[in-house]
Amino acid sequence: MPDKAKFWDGTAEKYSKQPIANQKAYEVKLNLTREYFTPDSQVLEFGCGTGSTAILHAPFVKHIDAIDVSSEMIRIAKDKLDPAGIQNVTFRVADMDGFQAAPESYDAVLGLNILHLLDDRMAAMREVYQALKPGGYFVSTTPCLREKFIFSLIGPLFPLMHALGRWPKVFRFSAKRLQRDIEEIGFKTVHYWQPDNGMSAFIVGQKPE
Ligand SMILES: C[S@@+](CC[C@H](N)C(=O)[O-])C[C@H]1O[C@@H](n2cnc3c(N)ncnc32)[C@H](O)[C@@H]1O
Repeated sequence: MPDKAKFWDGTAEKYSKQPIANQKAYEVKLNLTREYFTPDSQVLEFGCGTGSTAILHAPFVKHIDAIDVSSEMIRIAKDKLDPAGIQNVTFRVADMDGFQAAPESYDAVLGLNILHLLDDRMAAMREVYQALKPGGYFVSTTPCLREKFIFSLIGPLFPLMHALGRWPKVFRFSAKRLQRDIEEIGFKTVHYWQPDNGMSAFIVGQKPE
């Protein structure tokens, strides 16, 4: 098991029972995301967690490949498929750091609450870019913890809590920094929204046609 999976394996059961922090914003994001789907869409979701979002999106697309580094998250996600009557989602264990997908194989890629956890988000987003068909969409939602004063106070605690195994490794950057990163990869921003009092960024980038 990769070290980074350890934290998430340990928290998967608890995570699966946690209520969504901001249900209203979550539903807005679901609806916004579906604007970029068609019934023929081939979708990749990385860092899918326990799979709830993939299952909700499944009726709107052809197929979703949903990956997560944690085998426990994936086990819980797979258990949801039959009760939900969903057959067009494939859950599997894979690390997005170093992930390789067939070129131009997806119409949309979702990275939800994950970019701040990756060792090399630029490399991951380059992979997303090459995996998307021309005109395809990269939908991301990301806690952006750089600008908030509270996080400048507790920021030094992050590495300590990670070393103690209490928190995952978390990278802090601003929403604007993330948008610049996404555009540097080659995406054009087609939707930008900062819900949660500006603490997260919902950004949709399009790969040029
Ligand atoms: C904060 S949770 C978000 C889960 C889900 N996307 C959501 O929005 O509820 C982060 C997820 O990313 C996964 N993860 C962390 N690092 C990863 C990596 N390098 N590759 C793939 N998944 C990763 C964790 O196992 C966890 O399930």
